[in-house]
Amino acid sequence: MAFYVTTPIYYVNAAPHLGHAYSTIAADILARHHRQRGEEVFFLTGTDEHGEPVAQAAEREGVSPRELADRNAERFQALMPRINVSNDFFIRTSDPRHKARVQDVMQRVHDNGHVYKGVYEGWYCPRCADFKTDSELGPGNTCPIHQIPLEREREENWFFRLSTFQEPLERLYADRPEFVRPRSRANEALAFIRGGLQDVSLSRSKISWGVEVPWDREHVFYVWFDALLNYYTALSFARDGQDLTERFWPATLHIIGKDILKFHAVFWPALLLAADIDLPQQELIHGYLLMRDASGTEHKMSKSLGNVLDPFEVMDTFGTDALRYYCFREVSFGQDGGVSTATFGERYETELANEYGNLASRTLAMTRRYRDGVVPDVDVDPALVTDFEGLVGEVCELLDNAEVTQALDRIWLRVRRLNRYVEETAPWQLAKDGSRAAELDVALRSLAEGLRSVTVLLHPYMPETAGKLLAALAAEDVAMDGAAFGSRPGGASVGALEPLFPKPQ
Ligand code: MSP
Repeated sequence: MAFYVTTPIYYVNAAPHLGHAYSTIAADILARHHRQRGEEVFFLTGTDEHGEPVAQAAEREGVSPRELADRNAERFQALMPRINVSNDFFIRTSDPRHKARVQDVMQRVHDNGHVYKGVYEGWYCPRCADFKTDSELGPGNTCPIHQIPLEREREENWFFRLSTFQEPLERLYADRPEFVRPRSRANEALAFIRGGLQDVSLSRSKISWGVEVPWDREHVFYVWFDALLNYYTALSFARDGQDLTERFWPATLHIIGKDILKFHAVFWPALLLAADIDLPQQELIHGYLLMRDASGTEHKMSKSLGNVLDPFEVMDTFGTDALRYYCFREVSFGQDGGVSTATFGERYETELANEYGNLASRTLAMTRRYRDGVVPDVDVDPALVTDFEGLVGEVCELLDNAEVTQALDRIWLRVRRLNRYVEETAPWQLAKDGSRAAELDVALRSLAEGLRSVTVLLHPYMPETAGKLLAALAAEDVAMDGAAFGSRPGGASVGALEPLFPKPQ
């Protein structure tokens, strides 16, 4: 089984923020989960470096687009290990190998008769790098996303015959209702398609920062076509001397935010159809992380709105795993939702430090105190067997549908169950009464095994914490086929463990 997951590639006109980290961590959770299932995984992320958003930002900063791209691409590259994501490759669209491949594909689109020369006149948002139709304009001809006045543009450029794909796209959505998820987003895309598709500009002649159009070197490709193709081109050069296209294309899953739905759910499949390339299996559209401003109104976080919660600060104080956990626990993946330092603090303390961290330290401490650090080699408690029954299957099924938050919630129910089990069995009482040694054995064994089982399932969410805890439990294997409660024998010698979620200094 091959599993190929992608994130949007990020504009290098600004530094990374929590929104970028969010999409990337979501993809990482799924990539790690599928690796646990023994699948062959390829996980791609990267930077979108061409076009007006970058050219204009460079001009504002008085540097060349390349300088700005190099500087910010480095920051995005550095973000990946910092948020502990396990991407297999990082694509930069300024890479000459990407450019060559874009030219090949687009030449094919041209040769297949889907391109013509025309004059474009309309409203253009340089921040979105998008032409807006009248129905997409904000009040006073503004961009509804960036709230800036739009420029009226007129230029001769090459057009892609998007209008001829109306019927094939409608058929795609009818035949493959799961192509875009959640369903509400598929409906949104379909409504856009049914509203009538207009041909779109495929090239620009006013800027030179981009991939040259091979049949007309005065033009560069409109940045979105160059950018979308990254998902396909990367496979051809991600590994030296190897072409991974055969193995991993079509992509299993594109993860994107709702702001770029139209490009992925309308332009992208049309472009692939025009180039005779297979369509990806699924696109998963997630919502926005929102933050409150001083007046209490919630906004999408963005550099231009200046309301960014700095993920680096959070990670410096509380660790990377706490951030990863919080984002997917606090906001139901797929929906919009507010994030704040207050709710972060609450979840850190009650859930991570108390419910999970204390469960781990108590279990290990009691095993050391009452059984010299050896997990008793007895059967697990049948009461817990019932409560853990089917959990691995449920988590796999939910994550097959990219229900990242729901899967985490199911796991967390078992973390809470184990906490209740500690209270119910009160091992410290059993330890006082020699005649109850067998009960103490069962309780300690069940706690260690329960902790191991939930931790294997939590590995994709909190890889660092899971690594430490599983090492202390002398059970480092994270393979899914050994995740079920009771599937590993007792008898391991447990080690010491520093507090997993200490009080911040
Ligand atoms: N370069 C394009 C994407 C090209 S993909 C072929 C782009 N880049 S971006 O830097 O603006 O990143 C947009 C993506 O970042 C969103 O689609 C989303 O995945 C993520 N997010 C940015 N802000 C976000 C939030 N506030 N909340 C959640 N995700 C957000 O668009």
